[in-house]
Amino acid sequence: MGSVRFPGESPEHRRARALRERVDDLRDARQRILAAADAERRRIERDLHDGAQQRMVAVAVTLGLAEARVGSDPAGALELIAQAREEAQLAVKELRELARGIHPRVLSDHGLSAAIEAIASRAPVPVRVIGAPPDPLPHAVEAAAYFVASEALTNVAKYAHASEASVRISHGDSRLRVEIRDNGVGGADATTGSGLRGLHDRVEALDGSFELQSPPGEGTTLTVEFPLTRG
Ligand SMILES: Nc1ncnc2c1ncn2[C@@H]1O[C@H](COP(=O)(O)OP(=O)(O)OP(=O)(O)O)[C@@H](O)[C@H]1O
Ligand SMILES: [Mg+2]
Repeated sequence: MGSVRFPGESPEHRRARALRERVDDLRDARQRILAAADAERRRIERDLHDGAQQRMVAVAVTLGLAEARVGSDPAGALELIAQAREEAQLAVKELRELARGIHPRVLSDHGLSAAIEAIASRAPVPVRVIGAPPDPLPHAVEAAAYFVASEALTNVAKYAHASEASVRISHGDSRLRVEIRDNGVGGADATTGSGLRGLHDRVEALDGSFELQSPPGEGTTLTVEFPLTRG
């Protein structure tokens, strides 16, 4: 983007202009990240409101009915208690899923490789996970790499019509590289949805690079790289 040349422009001017363009890009990305964070908070609020909160209200109401009935109709009360227990179990399940979407437990407990293996094993197509990251990884890089793999594999499941996919993790030269490839229909476009654009912003905020190759009919490869030391 910043490599346009104007004839007669001095190297200093070119560098200054490239820097200004980079600042503008980062400012745009930061605004999109803030907007995405707001949207995410609203989604969580809605999920809690429509999901676990409604279920817990139902549990309380059902238990209240059971309490009122226990003297006159113990069998009916027992049935209501069973119903309340089922609702409570559903609420737990929904809370667990919601928490997993916010920050996957497996990532904090077992690290990036295990977390990516876990998404790979849930994918509808076979996904090979190749390579491993260096051991202590900066948390922000670890989370970004995880969300990249997660969104890319979700896209594979939704759009690619692929028969297989892979996640390749490598590192060297103080960089972590994650490549997600599928052999599906291609044609992915980072400007049409919010998923790939959000990933791009997240990677850019960490001074990383983001490359999407998706020629129609030839599958999709998303490659991201993160610097592991700031400089
Ligand atoms: N692996 C893929 N194979 C084929 N097409 C893809 C692939 N990944 C993405 N696409 C296409 O690129 C578009 C943009 O993807 P992106 O993830 O940015 O948005 P989305 O998945 O449509 O929406 P969101 O991620 O916000 O739920 C998709 O709508 C889809 O058409
Ligand atoms: Mg998507």
